[in-house]
Amino acid sequence: MTTIASLLQRSTELQSASDSALLDTELLLCHCLNVDRTWLKTWPDHMLQDAQIAEFERLFSRRLQGEPVAFITGTQGFWTLDLCVSPHTLIPRPETELVVENALELALPEESQVLDLGTGTGAIALALAAERPAWQIIAVDLQAEAVELAEHNREVNHLPNVTVLQSDWFSALAAAQSERKFDLIVSNPPYIEAEDDHLLIGDVRFEPTSALVAGADGLDDLRLIIGQSSGFLRQAGWLIVEHGYNQGSIVRDLFTAAGFQSVATQADYNGLDRVTLGCLPGSY
Ligand SMILES: C[S@@+](CC[C@H](N)C(=O)[O-])C[C@H]1O[C@@H](n2cnc3c(N)ncnc32)[C@H](O)[C@@H]1O
Repeated sequence: MTTIASLLQRSTELQSASDSALLDTELLLCHCLNVDRTWLKTWPDHMLQDAQIAEFERLFSRRLQGEPVAFITGTQGFWTLDLCVSPHTLIPRPETELVVENALELALPEESQVLDLGTGTGAIALALAAERPAWQIIAVDLQAEAVELAEHNREVNHLPNVTVLQSDWFSALAAAQSERKFDLIVSNPPYIEAEDDHLLIGDVRFEPTSALVAGADGLDDLRLIIGQSSGFLRQAGWLIVEHGYNQGSIVRDLFTAAGFQSVATQADYNGLDRVTLGCLPGSY
């Protein structure tokens, strides 16, 4: 007799492959049954049909091989949104919500112009668009597949105030809108060192290098973005970037060297430096 409770006990088999074994098992089971986690907890004795059991076994063995749950189910929650994911870009992380939180706390104009560099699934741009319908947001990514994915997520979440473009950082903007200046630029760019051992462990093994690695010291993309942002921001405009836990000090120096003021770094939920922001001099 196979019940929800008996399948959830299988989570013990996942403990060496995942540090969230029970949650992963619940999410896979929810996906197979098309229910939420509350439903699972409410009906532990519910018996599964043979086809549902077979589907669970198929997905569970993929997780045992190390594949991230989000790639198995095809979706990941971020902020208030449920986003489709793909192996062509990063799975949105909870710590990136700190970029969104910081952006929403700024005293920006009602109808701000915003740019999200390296949008991936569209996570940051779409979360901001959902919270601030009057903002006009441009979201760019170098990878055509990521652009397609972000556009899909934009459509299914009904967010008409986002435009998704393929661009090598600022390149498409420089050509398309030389006169346009943004009130806010946000970015979670690649920031891992090329030889970092963490790339060989856990979920990141399944994510593309193009979304993770930025040169020998991990700072190539942050240097470019921080160095060039002032040319695309209006006076008193803000830049917010996510970075590695050990990059706070150097990123603050890069902000200051690029002319930013009020430069500050925020720690994530684990107490690690994660997000730095600063604004250009001037007033509205
Ligand atoms: C760390 S992922 C972040 C994705 C998303 N913003 C998030 O927070 O989940 C970095 C993204 O930057 C994109 N990227 C890398 N190099 C780029 C470039 N030269 N121009 C634009 N986007 C780039 C990658 O394709 C990837 O989607």
